[in-house]
Parts: sequence; structure tokens; C-alpha cells
Amino acid sequence: MRIAIAGGTGTVGAHAVRLAEEAGHETIVLSRANGVDLVLGRGLDLTGVDAVIDVSGTSTTSASKATGFFEAVTSTLHRAEREAGVGHHVALSIVGAAAAPHGYYAGKAAQERAVAAGPVPWTILRATQFFEFAEQVAVPLGAWRIVPAMRSQPVAAASVAARLVRLAEHAPAGDAPDLAGPAEMRMAELLRRVSAARGRPARVIELPLPGGFGRALRNGAVLPGPDAQLDGVSVDEWLGEVPQASEGQG
Ligand SMILES: NC(=O)c1ccc[n+]([C@@H]2O[C@H](COP(=O)([O-])OP(=O)(O)OC[C@H]3O[C@@H](n4cnc5c(N)ncnc54)[C@H](OP(=O)(O)O)[C@@H]3O)[C@@H](O)[C@H]2O)c1
Repeated sequence: MRIAIAGGTGTVGAHAVRLAEEAGHETIVLSRANGVDLVLGRGLDLTGVDAVIDVSGTSTTSASKATGFFEAVTSTLHRAEREAGVGHHVALSIVGAAAAPHGYYAGKAAQERAVAAGPVPWTILRATQFFEFAEQVAVPLGAWRIVPAMRSQPVAAASVAARLVRLAEHAPAGDAPDLAGPAEMRMAELLRRVSAARGRPARVIELPLPGGFGRALRNGAVLPGPDAQLDGVSVDEWLGEVPQASEGQG
């Protein structure tokens, strides 16, 4: 198959590209670094593409910015998919985000609506936070690292990518079963374990974020439900596989 991966240079996207190629597929990476701007609609050509996996993302806690980003990206992809006759749009969302549409999650809720109402047959996979997320979200403050007060059941980004590639290989499925990691863990605890494993134990402070977004993070709104599929890769197994972070990170 020919699979286009929007956000194929990102955390989950790079795994999706690698795994799709290992499975024998041809991949096209859609990202600004590859000359494609999905917000501005520049540089996009989906000729011959069978399926698009959208794992593009933006870094914001603003509901309006996140909504603007995900609506623009989805609309750009839909237009190009229609022109090229692409038969399957696979999108990655976040477990619980659509039911708590505040801050960044408003953007994911808007993306889910746009995909489901769009002109191209679709599959939406909702996953929990990646193990990588703890280091991405942590803000340094002197010797301390601040993370949002948050309950999560994190999962390996590579496992999410593997599931996305499998979904793209099959017919559009609508809402796919949610995907989560094997165990619940506070974001602060995840960062402590990741930084300790890297040999640079972090002093971590939990910060309760304000508003509906902060409440969703704290109250379990983004934890998986009983029907979620649980991936077997634990944080310790994942830590055994990831390369050491470079100095200054982690
Ligand atoms: N992080 C998590 O824990 C988590 C959990 C569940 C679901 N998700 C969802 O998974 C998706 C990917 O997350 P991630 O952490 O892998 O993201 P990421 O590492 O921040 O990567 C974002 C990707 O989007 C591309 N991109 C950004 N703006 C673009 C634009 N205007 N045009 C084209 N490409 C653009 C980036 O490439 P360029 O900069 O080169 O454009 C990059 O490849 C997001 O939609 C996120 O909501 C994330």
C-alpha cells in the first residue's frame, strides 16, 4: 500500500513511518520539514495514496488555537484525499478528550467531529498519553520540573503507531477500540521514573492546571474505560528500549 503519514516526523509519526515501511508499505511523510504545510494547504499531493494516517499535532493549551489547527489540517487533508480518490482517513485522537473539550482537547474534539462528518471513509483511534509525554510536558524551574497534576494510563508511542498502521491496512472502521497502556500512573510519577532511569532523577512538582482542562486531567476524565484495549508494553520495558536522552533533556 501507499500510506501518507501527516506528522510523520513527530513522536508517534516517526514510529508509524518506520513500522509501515517494515511491513512493506510505501510511505509519504507530510510535514513542514518535508515541504507540506497542512494548515496553509501548501505542498500536498496524495496521488496514488491508499490511506492517510493523520498524527500531526500542535503544542498549545488554547482551545481556539488547537481547534483552528485540527480543523484546518483535516479540511486540507479531506480536500486532497477527495481529489486523489484516497479511500481511508485514519486519525489519532486522545482517550476522553471529546468528552472534556477544554483547552487542547477542544481541538481534538473538533478534529473527531470533522473526521466523522467528512467526505472520506474514516477510522478514529483514541490513545492515552505516550510514555514520551512526561518529558515533553515538563517545564523546568531551576532544579525542579513542573508537570500538570494528572491521572493517566500511559502507553508506548510505538504501540500506538503499530495499531495505526494495522488500522490503515484494513477497511475504514469508524470508532476503533481505545488503546491504553497496562497501568495507571500519575504524570509526576511517570516523569520520576523516566528521569531516574536516565540517571538524572528529577525533583518533580505537580501543578493543578486551572479550568475545565485542568479538572479533566486531575479527575480521571482521560483514563481508559472498561472496553479499552490494553497494550502490554510497560514503562520499564519501554525504558529498556529507548535511547538515552541527550544532555539537557529528561
Ligand atoms: N503526545 C501524546 O501523549 C498523545 C497521546 C494521544 C494522542 N496524541 C495525538 O497524536 C498526535 C501526534 O502527537 P505527537 O506527540 O507525536 O506530535 P509531535 O511529536 O508534536 O509531532 C507533530 C507533527 O506534526 C507536524 N506538523 C505540525 N504542524 C504542521 C503543519 N502545519 N503542517 C504539516 N505538519 C505539521 C510536525 O512536523 P513539522 O514540525 O515538520 O511540520 C510533526 O511531524 C497529535 O494529534 C496528538 O493530539 C498525542
